[in-house]
Amino acid sequence: MMTRAQAKIDPIILQQPTVTDESLGTPFRAYEFSDADFRRLKKMIFDYAGISLNDNKKPMAYSRLTKRIRQLGHANFREYLDFVEHADSEEHVRFINALTTNLTYFFREAHHFTILSEHLLKLYRDEPLTVWSAACSTGEEPYSIAMAAIEAFGSDAPPVRIIASDLDTDALAAAKRGVYALDKVASLTPQRLKRFFLKGAGDQAGFARIRPQVQRMVEFHQVNLHEDNWPIEGNLAAIFCRNVMIYFNKETQTKILDRFAPLLRRDGLLFAGHSENFFYNARDTFRIRGKTVYELASS
Ligand SMILES: C[S@@+](CC[C@H](N)C(=O)[O-])C[C@H]1O[C@@H](n2cnc3c(N)ncnc32)[C@H](O)[C@@H]1O
Repeated sequence: MMTRAQAKIDPIILQQPTVTDESLGTPFRAYEFSDADFRRLKKMIFDYAGISLNDNKKPMAYSRLTKRIRQLGHANFREYLDFVEHADSEEHVRFINALTTNLTYFFREAHHFTILSEHLLKLYRDEPLTVWSAACSTGEEPYSIAMAAIEAFGSDAPPVRIIASDLDTDALAAAKRGVYALDKVASLTPQRLKRFFLKGAGDQAGFARIRPQVQRMVEFHQVNLHEDNWPIEGNLAAIFCRNVMIYFNKETQTKILDRFAPLLRRDGLLFAGHSENFFYNARDTFRIRGKTVYELASS
């Protein structure tokens, strides 16, 4: 089965207005997408989601949106963008969902989970600890956090609660389902697979389902990091904000980091993605603690 990430791989933009490939038997339609349309699209996705698309992302935007344009029967991008701007919020959601990049996998940047496990054990006294996965995509990150906590505390009900959020409602729905094609879990050790997943049978063959004890540790919400109304309470033991800041400009990154700081416990940790070296913008707020792990500068 094609994963969502694979489905978003960029095909080549057709150059001709209309191409009919007899061998496929299906007529393709190319949609006019001018540079002015792309500039307008970039402004819209920036305004809605804070996502700054580079100029080289025009083919990506084209390929991600043509299916929807075809479904709606619009003649070109200009007409579709008019529709998005004037349509109900549902089309905004579809537009945003199409343009987000959801690539993720279980135990991505494995060293983070070793550090997190030690951190949680060190912090735990009597009160449960809360971790926020702030761009959780299809759920692999928050479930990895839950699995690491189960292993660290040696209990199927560790004193750890995970809040997982994302902007993309399709990704969130997949995360809540907690069902993954077997190739998505193939990199996990046999011990983890056995302990944390149920193998699908019958019409679920080829899929693995997260076990209920892991799933019940995670609470999902839609949160747009670019907006001000985050429904997240403070006193967090850790925030995972990985591989999403790369889509934001420096100003948006700094604003988000400034808003993370008061949500963390004084001894809390912030985990960033491997290519996110934005902390030069936030030296007053965070200092580096280890490879892509940060602590409050005031701690
Ligand atoms: C590449 S995935 C990263 C997933 C996971 N954190 C990881 O590192 O594997 C980026 C995620 O950020 C989400 N995202 C993009 N803009 C966002 C925003 N403004 N607010 C919240 N999430 C956003 C996307 O929907 C996508 O699921």
